Amino acid sequence: MPLIKLDAIDSTNDFLKQLFKDSVVEDYTIVMANEQTKGKGQMGAKWISEPGKNLTMSVLVKDVHLKNQNIYDFNIAVALSVSDTLKKMGLPNISIKWPNDIMSDSKKVSGILIENIFKHDGNFNSVIGIGLNVNQTDFKDLPQATSLKCITGKDYDLEEIALLLSDSLRGFIQVLAKHREILWDFYHQNLYKLNYPSPFEDKNGNRFMGIIKKVTRDGKLEVLLDDDNVTHYDVKEIKMLF
Ligand code: BTN
Repeated sequence: MPLIKLDAIDSTNDFLKQLFKDSVVEDYTIVMANEQTKGKGQMGAKWISEPGKNLTMSVLVKDVHLKNQNIYDFNIAVALSVSDTLKKMGLPNISIKWPNDIMSDSKKVSGILIENIFKHDGNFNSVIGIGLNVNQTDFKDLPQATSLKCITGKDYDLEEIALLLSDSLRGFIQVLAKHREILWDFYHQNLYKLNYPSPFEDKNGNRFMGIIKKVTRDGKLEVLLDDDNVTHYDVKEIKMLF
């Protein structure tokens, strides 16, 4: 699979989207950058990453056919591909924090930003951005983040991990076509704080405790509240306070 290595770029997701618009780009093309000057996180946040130390990469997945699946099926396949790669690399206590942050214990090690380019037939091309903290060891300003090196003490080759991630992505997307139920079971087995009392904050800033029961097929978090009510939240309505 083609691998494009850049020194500095605004965002690897934006670069790959533009490249795809302007030219013919092969399926599973990877773009990785030493440094992003405008790295994008979920919900308009910035993605901050120490230059040269971490993986900031995007992968193009062309012509995704959802058939009877919905878009969230695709998202869980992506999250699983990252968590599974880290587990296979020997990282301990890896889980997926809804919707698709990758955690080691209770610290975030990777974030995912999926940007889909829809076609007229409802199928889409997807630019999958992965930020993975690898060799950075100073997280003074980000106390809830960690890196592979902080966890294991080892240094890692960024390109090697990029290739592992892209292979894993391909594998999980293939599984998605045939074994959606298995994927969902696997997602729940890997879900951070499933069935544990956890603190949340709603969009008005109210804090409360609840227990995650599952993620619904349309990507909502099902939470059992203290008053025994079960409520479904979408990603804009609630955040987990670690
Ligand atoms: C998040 O957790 O908020 C998602 C972070 C995604 C960051 C990656 S880094 C590579 C790609 N390019 C970007 O601008 N963002 C994603």
